[in-house]
Amino acid sequence: MAKLLIRDLRQVVSPAGRDAPLRGSALGELELIEHAYVLCDGATVEAVGPMSELGLVDSEVEDVDGTGLCAIPGLVDCHTHPAFGGDRVDEFSLRAGGASYEELHAAGGGILSTVRATRAAGEGGLREAVERHRGWMLRAGTTTFEGKSGYGLDRATELASLSAVRDAGGAPTFLGAHATPPAFDDADAYLDFVLADVLPDAAALAEAADVFLERGAFDAGQARRYLEACRDHGLALRLHGDQFTESGAIPLAIELGARSVDHLEATGADGIAALAASDVTGVLLPASALFLARPMPPGRALVDAGAAVALATDFNPGSAFCNSLPVVMSLAATQLQLSPAETLAACTVNAAHVLGRADRIGRIAPGFAADLVLLDAPDWRYVAYHLAGDVVATVIKDGTVTVGRAAY
Ligand code: NIG
Ligand code: FE
Repeated sequence: MAKLLIRDLRQVVSPAGRDAPLRGSALGELELIEHAYVLCDGATVEAVGPMSELGLVDSEVEDVDGTGLCAIPGLVDCHTHPAFGGDRVDEFSLRAGGASYEELHAAGGGILSTVRATRAAGEGGLREAVERHRGWMLRAGTTTFEGKSGYGLDRATELASLSAVRDAGGAPTFLGAHATPPAFDDADAYLDFVLADVLPDAAALAEAADVFLERGAFDAGQARRYLEACRDHGLALRLHGDQFTESGAIPLAIELGARSVDHLEATGADGIAALAASDVTGVLLPASALFLARPMPPGRALVDAGAAVALATDFNPGSAFCNSLPVVMSLAATQLQLSPAETLAACTVNAAHVLGRADRIGRIAPGFAADLVLLDAPDWRYVAYHLAGDVVATVIKDGTVTVGRAAY
């Protein structure tokens, strides 16, 4: 495969060392090289260093002029819901007028309105939607994404959602326990169905399972039942927890050895201490808190207590219609009191850890995937500093320039 040299970069920045996940003070430690190059061999980084150490380069190597640009690792979005039909713009307008997300959900709107639109989209419509959403993410610098099912809640649409995510290059997560569809009397009856009729085939398509553990969705006992069955089918475990209430998500995640517990807007001191003492990563979703005008998750306290934290968009049509990790980094810096360096590690190496891929993605280092974002900015921290700015100039995925515009 061809070699690609990105030369004369203003800065190359990568989370320090090789450990994953990064915690405490290590979360903010970066390796920064000024006036640097990155040499890619096919889909893998071969070398990175200062221009002064770049030896003679073969004339066959494709050259990218990095003058004026800063390179960061390709961003990793470890929590998205891209497999949906329709939109929730009417609900968005109602919320602006004072209706709450939980009220809309309880009235059969919210998630269930997207379930109706997703079923109606059919397999082809769903594939198109996931492709479109993946394109939005890629243009914002996301080179690896996780994508959940959870808007089908029937066999055909759940499996089509997982296939669409997988075929778009994403890491599929089976969110079979997102809500109880109206055809079932209660959550237990729905779980009987989903575990017997959907899980066996979903497990062949997905890498992980997820559940919405929350009042009005699934309680801790139901979440345990769902997750244990998914674990028995070989899936890694994730939880939506502590979004509105502390309903036992953190203790359950720890007990079951889950990869992550995500949201945490309602997490208090005991939850922070428990998570910090565990191997479960807390995935923070500040765009969701912003979009729903909810309290922000306790990001600074989690990091200071020693918890492993990651950042993600939660991209979905209802609670976080936001596909941009740079925007999430800005929110984390301004609302969660994380330093720009901490925000970068949280949506590169630590997000890669949540997806079980930290040996291959999340860093710019020899042997890692040639996934890079080139920022058109005088300092890499503009990715967080320039709120919703147009800083992502070029996106390189597996050594190929996928999104690009000339530097100016
Ligand atoms: O992570 N909270 C549950 N699930 C999604 C929202 C889904 C929706 O509103 O459509 C979330 O916020
Ligand atoms: Fe979510």
